[in-house]
Amino acid sequence: MKKLVVLISGNGSNLQSILDACASGRINGSVAAVFSNKSTAWGLTRARDAGVPAHALAAGDFPDREAFDRQLMREIDAYAPDLVVLAGYMRILSSAFVAHYQDRLLNIHPSLLPKYPGLHTHRQALANGDAEHGTSVHFVTDELDGGPVILQARVPIFPDDNEDEVTARVQHQEHAIYPLVISWFVEGRLAMREGKAWLDNQPLPPQGYAYD
Ligand code: GAR
Repeated sequence: MKKLVVLISGNGSNLQSILDACASGRINGSVAAVFSNKSTAWGLTRARDAGVPAHALAAGDFPDREAFDRQLMREIDAYAPDLVVLAGYMRILSSAFVAHYQDRLLNIHPSLLPKYPGLHTHRQALANGDAEHGTSVHFVTDELDGGPVILQARVPIFPDDNEDEVTARVQHQEHAIYPLVISWFVEGRLAMREGKAWLDNQPLPPQGYAYD
């Protein structure tokens, strides 16, 4: 059974969907450990409630990003994960971290990439009057929110929506697509090669797998 390590910074609702999918067998794997850069992250409690080791590292205890990431890598590697999953991990990664987990590092980003990399994606979609928004699961590369997209989910934005409503609608989709993508990876169906995401030995188009 494949081993996952999940990195979080906050609520951990995506972590919860992954824990639930492992428990129900939808992901043929287990979460070996959860790490956070915030000791108060609610996701750490979710992990402990599921019997998963949960660790926090504080950026203030390290001289720079590289030193923080070196320690994080040491602690992650003690669990020998097959896949490292960023689930609302709100800290920029060093190049060394990205290189170390190349081809086995996934992220979920709350926009239809390449639209709206970075922060406040829901606010930007609303401010621009977008009728459609969504979320993307992608392999992580050195480019911020720029790695190859694997799967996106789209949601409508209605005229009277506020940011909370849009966030909730997007997160509802995240909880469906992230476990699905992780299940593809642990089943050996999904890989990153030549800078592209491949599913069942087919290169995926720039916007990832499309249901239709
Ligand atoms: C998720 O919506 C995820 O897409 C986003 O943070 C949220 C975490 O929620 N990630 C990013 O913005 C990364 N750039 P959660 O803690 O409830 O899973």
